Amino acid sequence: MEEIEIIKPDDWHVHFRDNNILKAVVPETTRHFARAIVMPNLTPPILNGKQAIKYKKRIIKNIPKSHNFEPLMTIYLTENTNKFELSESYQEGLVFAAKLYPAGATTNSESGVKDIKKIMPILETMSKVGMPLLIHGEVTHKEVDIFDREKVFVDQNLDFICKELPELKITLEHITTKEATEYVWESNENLAASITPHHLALNRNALFVGGIRPHNYCLPILKSEIHRKSLVKAAISGNPKFFLGTDTAPHLIHDKESDCGCAGVFNATYCLPILAQIFDNERSKNKLENFVSKNGAKHYNLKFNKQKIKLTKLSNKLTFKKYLDIRKEKVKIFEPDFPVFWDIF
Ligand code: DOR
Ligand code: ZN
Repeated sequence: MEEIEIIKPDDWHVHFRDNNILKAVVPETTRHFARAIVMPNLTPPILNGKQAIKYKKRIIKNIPKSHNFEPLMTIYLTENTNKFELSESYQEGLVFAAKLYPAGATTNSESGVKDIKKIMPILETMSKVGMPLLIHGEVTHKEVDIFDREKVFVDQNLDFICKELPELKITLEHITTKEATEYVWESNENLAASITPHHLALNRNALFVGGIRPHNYCLPILKSEIHRKSLVKAAISGNPKFFLGTDTAPHLIHDKESDCGCAGVFNATYCLPILAQIFDNERSKNKLENFVSKNGAKHYNLKFNKQKIKLTKLSNKLTFKKYLDIRKEKVKIFEPDFPVFWDIF
């Protein structure tokens, strides 16, 4: 029997939401992951340490007793964030990082940042205290094609921030392009990137095969095959600058299958079997542990987890559960368009 034994993974980017959705999705992540960075884009967003701690308590209440899991909290940056309060919350250990959403870039990002220059003093303070900056790297100008928004952000904004503050620890989150991959690859060691399972598994055709596919709609949007290949190359390379951030982002089915459907893919349930398959297809199973369990911890100066997990190769393909129940409603569980022969026992 073929097996892969690895250090228990971490997810460096999750959306847990709140209330009934929170209740249903938390165990899907805590079952296999030891830690996760929790996004602050609730309505209203998590703007300070006090709110982050309250949210952390709501999360912890929903972790099953048998799961050993630590949520790492974040603060949503705005042009009005108080840099003293922010650095204090970090230094007191209330929060782990701050998240930069360009205003209008994605779900609940309306209160985000319109002009990066306005937050440079905040970023400078973060750099001084060693607080990581997590970036949704897309510009939002109407005139920029949606498929080019990440590339333009890297050219216009990321490069500016990295040059001004080379000591700032930055994660360019959920990268989707060759340009972002290359920029991170060549940058100094303080810049790293997370990659999602769905951007490794799918290219933009998956949005349109046989009809419009709202469940594959996420932001940054899926890109063409050249870009997907460059992400796979980075993920399987073992380069410590690239690690897993699933961006698992649950939305109720009626909010996805709608006139104006929400962006987000809910992938928590099967993301590790899917990744094992992708790495196996690339003959790179020996690099899976770097990507899901080691590289992120190194970037954030955290210890590796002590526990291990085992993935086993199946003789028949894995049967995916289609939906996660949220009371009387449902969230669609992500399933790629190729068979998966791995599972966790
Ligand atoms: O697809 C996405 N969904 N991308 C994001 O950046 C946010 C997320 C969400 O919160 O639904
Ligand atoms: Zn996200």
